[in-house]
Amino acid sequence: MAQKLAFRPFRSIQCQILRQAQVRRTFLFALQAGSPLVRSLFASLTLLIVATAAPVAAAQKVQMSIDVSKPGAKIDRNIFGQFAEHLGHGVYEGIWVGSDSKIPNTRGIRNDVVAALKALKVPDVRWPGGCFADEYHWRKGIGPQRTVTLNPNWGGVIEPNTFGTHEFLDFLDQIGAEPYLSVNVGSGTPQEAAEWLEYLTTAQPTTLAKERAANGHPAPYKVAFLGIGNESWDCGGNMTPDYYLSQLKIYSRFVRNFNPAQQDKQQMLKIAVGPGGGESRRTEWTEAIMKAYQSHTWSWDMNGLSMHSYTVVKWPPSYASVGFGEKEYAQILKSTMEMNDLIAKHSAIMDKYDPEKKIALVVDEWGGWYAPLPGSTPGFLVQQNSLRDAILAALNLNIFAQHADRVRMANIAQMINVLQAMILTDKEKMVLTPTYYVYKMYVPFQDATFVPVTFDAGTFTHDGITLPRIDAIAGKDKAGKLWLAITNVDPNQPAEIEVSLAGINAKSASGETLTAPKVDSVNTFDVPNTVVPKPVSAKAQDGKLTLELAPKSVTVIAVEQ
Ligand code: AHR
Repeated sequence: MAQKLAFRPFRSIQCQILRQAQVRRTFLFALQAGSPLVRSLFASLTLLIVATAAPVAAAQKVQMSIDVSKPGAKIDRNIFGQFAEHLGHGVYEGIWVGSDSKIPNTRGIRNDVVAALKALKVPDVRWPGGCFADEYHWRKGIGPQRTVTLNPNWGGVIEPNTFGTHEFLDFLDQIGAEPYLSVNVGSGTPQEAAEWLEYLTTAQPTTLAKERAANGHPAPYKVAFLGIGNESWDCGGNMTPDYYLSQLKIYSRFVRNFNPAQQDKQQMLKIAVGPGGGESRRTEWTEAIMKAYQSHTWSWDMNGLSMHSYTVVKWPPSYASVGFGEKEYAQILKSTMEMNDLIAKHSAIMDKYDPEKKIALVVDEWGGWYAPLPGSTPGFLVQQNSLRDAILAALNLNIFAQHADRVRMANIAQMINVLQAMILTDKEKMVLTPTYYVYKMYVPFQDATFVPVTFDAGTFTHDGITLPRIDAIAGKDKAGKLWLAITNVDPNQPAEIEVSLAGINAKSASGETLTAPKVDSVNTFDVPNTVVPKPVSAKAQDGKLTLELAPKSVTVIAVEQ
């Protein structure tokens, strides 16, 4: 985990960096004041979007252009994947309360959490770890009698195994997501993993299939993704690339999916352990796996290479998740944008051995990792989630979308109560985090076609830390609608974005914007609505639109034709 310290230099922004002169748009304030005359005048001019939390400082002007006739790769919905490890209150209390609980639940799974996650259209969930996966023995978590074990990685607490394979798949059924199972390559055996997959997927009346039926599921399960190990270079067994490769080949060969519905179409995708940073031993790992893949024979295969990269700045994680200022805001965001260079670096190695991009780069652990909240159990990785995390999430999702041809899956760490969570719970209480709202706002980008956006981002500097002020992506959904996501990173200056649109006759635009009074504003159980999206609306004319964005905000709009 210490390797997460390694970061690349500041990412080169796709756009030329240019500081724009400040332009005070006095007409905008007249419009906000509500003058009907001004309103009717502007109705026939350029498109104007005013965020409800309208800024009062002078706006920086940014030009953007979008040509809808030049689409790029598909933004795979799986880049919006989640990760749920047996860690702290991520699973127990966060998902599982047991059927006897007073907290409303369906077969032990809390209803409030399920409803919240359904709204995110979660594509897949990685489970049971993490480091936990390489010590997980699936048989202890099935049947009427569960084996009580320990969770040595995360606080050494009791692991009751009451949430096991069937409970996880029931949970996924309830939220409508696909399973991404991480099999135990550390302390387990290929035989154990092979039997897990037979238990789960065979339609034939084997002893394992009958046991599955006796445990309540006669029909075979579908398993969409199989992770072969986790951080095998570290907590997963400290393996060398060669040792891991020999394991990968064996697991890939023998851990089969027998589900008849997954033989031709919807085949299970196998994801190998990949790098955890950008230093030479990490790039050597990627080289070794990809080189082996290039000359692989019929007897083993892989479809993805995982990559882990947390935004932590220094190890052990010491940045506060709440109660910080603009300097820490800038430091964390600068660090998170290094994701772009890290992806570019490993993608370049992958391109050498796989120019057709058959193998996906799967960023299956990422997010902000801060100091544990004071008073919490350190091994439970409890942290708050602020407006800074919303912006961090948007910047990373944008980076994944910009690399959509190679990055086809990603899993934020972790879904509930752990690290950069979507949801926090405390017994019967639940609160949705700023990160949750970014995921909700970005739902239209799931499986949309990437549309390039050209713009001069500009920069802002805080305490010697220089960051781009603006980041943006666009996508065309299956119905042909154009969506635009723009982040104003600058914590103090609003931005006026002027967008030229080619290949589309825009009539209006509307959507939502997420901002808050401070960079460390959070939602709490008592005050849950400090950082929630507000509606924005727009008008359009002459193929142009103008958006007024609040400082430190994320905005997503749909363009109506
Ligand atoms: O997400 C927490 C831990 O971080 C995971 O268990 C491990 O894979 C990584 O080091």
